[in-house]
Amino acid sequence: MSQTTTALVTGANKGIGYEIAAGLGALGWSIGVGARDDARREAAVEKLRAAGVDAFGVPLDVTDDTSVAAAVRLVEERAGGLDVLVNNAAVTGGMPQEPTTVDLAAVRTAVETNVIGVIRVTNAMLPLLRRSASPRIVNMSSGVGSLTRQTASTDELTTGPLSVAYAPSKTFLNAVTIQYAKELRDTNILINAACPGFVATDLNGFRGVRTPEQGAAIAIRLATLPDDGPTGGFFEDAGVVPW
Ligand SMILES: NC(=O)c1ccc[n+]([C@@H]2O[C@H](COP(=O)([O-])OP(=O)(O)OC[C@H]3O[C@@H](n4cnc5c(N)ncnc54)[C@H](OP(=O)(O)O)[C@@H]3O)[C@@H](O)[C@H]2O)c1
Repeated sequence: MSQTTTALVTGANKGIGYEIAAGLGALGWSIGVGARDDARREAAVEKLRAAGVDAFGVPLDVTDDTSVAAAVRLVEERAGGLDVLVNNAAVTGGMPQEPTTVDLAAVRTAVETNVIGVIRVTNAMLPLLRRSASPRIVNMSSGVGSLTRQTASTDELTTGPLSVAYAPSKTFLNAVTIQYAKELRDTNILINAACPGFVATDLNGFRGVRTPEQGAAIAIRLATLPDDGPTGGFFEDAGVVPW
């Protein structure tokens, strides 16, 4: 594997994922821009390169086995391995999603992308990550997945809107993150969940109050943890997020 640190960010063509790619790229890292749409991916790669980032496009639909397998081959050919995986891609599944009236397709879509997609990409990339001296995995979660916050607050700024698909998919992702940390505890792989805060992006119709750059900061911190850093945790800028 080369001396250059290589990261792959899923859903990196826009929003928080783009800013994670830009932030890690600014460290001099080589950045795989994972995105499912060719035009949006190439536009993001061009923009990152214009900003001086060593970016390369990785066609990647996290819900598709064939696409993910091809992404592994591409990253291996380009970089020989992988140091950091940021599982950022996610969807709401479509709103509204009140529990009693939800279209089940919304639940399936949210879980397929936000949970199963993360497991699919992580397991496919693990052989490459295991070759790294300091592998890191960051799962982009959300504070709305915190059961503690959901049960302690009715403030939509804390809990998000009623959602039986998106918010529980992030709770599921948090639980998945803990299970990975347990299995990988005797390796050098650190895996953590991140909450970016309420960020103005397509995901929420740009109603968020933080910038994508601000939202990216916690993922960048977890992607650059020292070897004695935490694993199996859930963090935001201010510190630990309660489960
Ligand atoms: N915005 C917030 O306030 C907020 C708060 C808490 C957590 N988060 C989390 O932060 C992460 C980034 O969200 P965001 O706000 O930046 O949303 P966004 O602007 O909607 O970006 C989501 C990204 O995920 C990609 N994506 C969706 N499904 C995909 C798939 N099947 N395969 C590959 N890529 C896929 C999208 O690609 P396309 O362009 O092709 O759709 C897009 O690049 C998500 O995990 C989200 O849950 C966001």
